Amino acid sequence: MRIDLISLFPEFVAQCAGFGVVGRARERGLLSVHGWNPRDYAGGNYRRVDDRPFGGGPGMVMMIDPLRDAIRAARAADPAPARVTYLSPQGRPLTQAIVRELAARPRLILLCGRYEGVDERLVEAEVDEELSIGDYVLSGGELAAAVVVDAVARLQDGALNDAGSAAQDSFEADGLLDCPHYTRPVEHELGTVPEVLLSGNHAEIARWRRRQSLLRTRRRRPDLLAAADLSPEERAWLAAQPEDGEGTRDR
Ligand SMILES: C[S@@+](CC[C@H](N)C(=O)[O-])C[C@H]1O[C@@H](n2cnc3c(N)ncnc32)[C@H](O)[C@@H]1O
Repeated sequence: MRIDLISLFPEFVAQCAGFGVVGRARERGLLSVHGWNPRDYAGGNYRRVDDRPFGGGPGMVMMIDPLRDAIRAARAADPAPARVTYLSPQGRPLTQAIVRELAARPRLILLCGRYEGVDERLVEAEVDEELSIGDYVLSGGELAAAVVVDAVARLQDGALNDAGSAAQDSFEADGLLDCPHYTRPVEHELGTVPEVLLSGNHAEIARWRRRQSLLRTRRRRPDLLAAADLSPEERAWLAAQPEDGEGTRDR
């Protein structure tokens, strides 16, 4: 997958994408990240990329031309067609389902705003979709772009050392939250590892994990549980469990 970033600070996102699973995906050639700085396409001595908003008011607005030229340069750098995604607090909230859809594309062009945002005419002419990483306002789209890059990188075939691990994550298995995880030592002053996980009985372990996911999702994200694909047996089992039956600390 190829990702092009339109950003005043493209190296910020590239740095974020240099570690762990994402860094490895890049090393393995599964993902490439290319930065396009609108300032490089700005005219004049000051290479100006922003100006005051018409109508008055505080802040600055990113100008059309440097952004449009940067987007065009990014498009021209590869023959594969790409949709332009503007990271914006006003966009569709990012979910794992959207991440899966983005991860399956050959190319992404991610547009990062700054200041009060970008001139609306640029959005209307060049942007295909807007994505938000949550109902809060960041000072720029770079952190949001880094979130998208990370989330899609780990879904590229071969990015994770164990191909099955993404399938076990929250929001993947029937839309539930993941179960709790434990590692050595078995005994610790903070507690003991649940016995079933030491039993070697894979069917029992799978059942315990699934039930933990059910309890955890009911307690923490009942909205997900309502939409989850549960068997009638699972629904009956869950209904019979006390509401505080998760067994681990409520965070
Ligand atoms: C200070 S914000 C502009 C906010 C804009 N005036 C508004 O209220 O909708 C500057 C840039 O940060 C990015 N941004 C801020 N919050 C974001 C969020 N929750 N998700 C994705 N991008 C965000 C966008 O690219 C935006 O253009």
